[in-house]
Amino acid sequence: MNTASGQVTRALLQSRRIVVFSGAGMSAESGIGTFRNAPDSHWSRFDPRELASPDGWRANPQRVWAWYESRRAEVLAAQPNGGHFAIAQLASALHARTGREVQVDVVTQNVDNLHERAGSTGVVHLHGSLFAPRCFACARPGAFADGVPDRKATEVEPPSCGHCGGRIRPGVVWFGEAMPQAEFRLAEDLVDACDAMLVIGTSGVVFPAAELPINAHHLGKFVAEINPTPSNLVQYMRVQWPTSAAQGLPELLQLLKA
Ligand code: OAD
Repeated sequence: MNTASGQVTRALLQSRRIVVFSGAGMSAESGIGTFRNAPDSHWSRFDPRELASPDGWRANPQRVWAWYESRRAEVLAAQPNGGHFAIAQLASALHARTGREVQVDVVTQNVDNLHERAGSTGVVHLHGSLFAPRCFACARPGAFADGVPDRKATEVEPPSCGHCGGRIRPGVVWFGEAMPQAEFRLAEDLVDACDAMLVIGTSGVVFPAAELPINAHHLGKFVAEINPTPSNLVQYMRVQWPTSAAQGLPELLQLLKA
């Protein structure tokens, strides 16, 4: 069995620690938009400087808040796909097959919390979450307005901070901002300690997140990509499996159980 799926199956069966590194393509089959490489992707339609930067926020917080609220509404109406569920079941499937304790850690660039909704725990969020708003002024956690967010509104006044009265901003990392350091360090440690890494649905163009699979490769780990299109990171992959997250991952789970 020297197919991509076979190579990944064999590598996982020999692993005790696995890191899953996911990007927007992970959630594409849940109906959540990706950022690049598609005509309807976010950064083909919108300017990230306007919607994903501190300057864009200062220029028009109502527009930025409305856009993230429409994305939150999209996610609330969506469901995790078979790929998310397969990842959440990976450790127990490997334990059942090999009799060994296997640790699977999910490190994601996604802000949609769909891994958690599928049952993964301890997910490391490199780019924040749509569900963790905070004050732009004092950084304390904030709250959403009551009710279902409006999918269609183009300008919405952000809620005010209960502590300082500042505007509440989305809890995601913007261009020009540092990634949360504790999360990134934890992700680096997980990569150091892993035997295998699955890189799923990311174009691999946003750094420093994309350093993680590159580091894994340089550390001699087994690194495989699940992506219908080879990403920017393909040269660091032992295996490029040209399949989608919601097709390939359930297939992998079945192969691991066989
Ligand atoms: P991108 O939109 O850049 O890339 C999505 C990747 O998913 C592409 O390589 C697609 O080929 C692949 N893909 C599409 N459909 C897929 C499917 N069904 N299964 C598997 N793969 C599929 O998304 P990211 O790499 O996540 O940052 O983007 C990185 C960061 O750029 C995001 O976290 C976001 C954005 O600006 C912040 O919000 C800070």
